[in-house]
Amino acid sequence: MTVVINMRDGVDERKIKVAARFILEGKLVAFPTETVYGLGADALNASAVRRIFEAKGRPADNPLIVHIAEFSDLERLAREIPREAKLLAKRFWPGPLTMVLPKAEEVPDVTTGGLDTVAVRMPAHPIALALIRASTPIAAPSANISGKPSPTLAEHVVDDFYGRIEAIIDGGETKVGVESTVIDLTSESPILLRPGGLPLEEIERVIGEVKIHPAVIGKMVDVARSPGMKYRHYSPEAQVIVVEGERERVRRKIAQLVEEYRSKGYRVGVMGTEEYGADEFFNLGRSEEEVARNLFKALRELDKRGVDVIIAEGVEERGLGLAVMNRLRKASGYRVIRV
Ligand code: TXA
Ligand code: MG
Repeated sequence: MTVVINMRDGVDERKIKVAARFILEGKLVAFPTETVYGLGADALNASAVRRIFEAKGRPADNPLIVHIAEFSDLERLAREIPREAKLLAKRFWPGPLTMVLPKAEEVPDVTTGGLDTVAVRMPAHPIALALIRASTPIAAPSANISGKPSPTLAEHVVDDFYGRIEAIIDGGETKVGVESTVIDLTSESPILLRPGGLPLEEIERVIGEVKIHPAVIGKMVDVARSPGMKYRHYSPEAQVIVVEGERERVRRKIAQLVEEYRSKGYRVGVMGTEEYGADEFFNLGRSEEEVARNLFKALRELDKRGVDVIIAEGVEERGLGLAVMNRLRKASGYRVIRV
């Protein structure tokens, strides 16, 4: 029932047509973007969008991002396009930036989780852009079962959705590895709702200071502005523990935790830059870019290797590090040890 469409060698217009027809018929097609894989449906077709929520097990009040291929599509989806949105689109689209804007009439309420705003982004991936151009604006959350780590490989989407959606386009591994940065432009001043693949520093260089929503760095809060913030996220089966702080102290603490958990009979996985004598190890790499790219794959992979506990090395919270730490803290259910 699920067709896996191989496009690892790049865009194939004939295969794109097949996938685009599925979208126009109200079916679900998972596709690669530069951040993570998306689970797509026609954004303007309410019953198609409803199927996304069912397939993911996603709460109906958690709105979706609408993906476009031309700036002119934005005029159809947003009632109003503020100056900052134009500046940011010009500088960063296509790319890992999502902007929340006042919603146009035409966008169904299901797509926006009942909000009067709509989140829009233009992905920087040739397959995603070709699919949108051949069909329509596409609503797409990350293509994972709600609460699981986001997918960076078609295999991850197969694991979660095989037999439950019409098609999965395999475009290989995604480049960025964390989802887009979400910024709200409907208040008096811009607010960062989710750190992501586009560093906040780069956005601020274009539009000046951006406020950070407290939920981005803090605990789980019940927020109306971005309902997604209040739900459990990115969680593998294993318990994740994040250790953050000064580098040497982090190393000592992780070594100590590995020993403690192992002596109690737990299988311990470590994700970071060193093995620390753990049962399983996933090397995240050293640069911010590598860590971001490997993060979700590491969570899924360590789970597959059957560990009980995953101990994650924290990174510095600048550049992509802000998004990485936000995902890690959520994955741990805020089990964070600061040393
Ligand atoms: O990189 C990405 O953004 C990926 C790829 C597929 O494009 N998509 C993605 O979608 O991460 P999703 O649904 O997993 O995350 C969308 C986030 C959620 O936190 C949601 O609450 C927020 O964007 N969001 C969507 N519409 C919103 C709105 N109108 N107001 C505030 N937040 C919104
Ligand atoms: Mg998601």
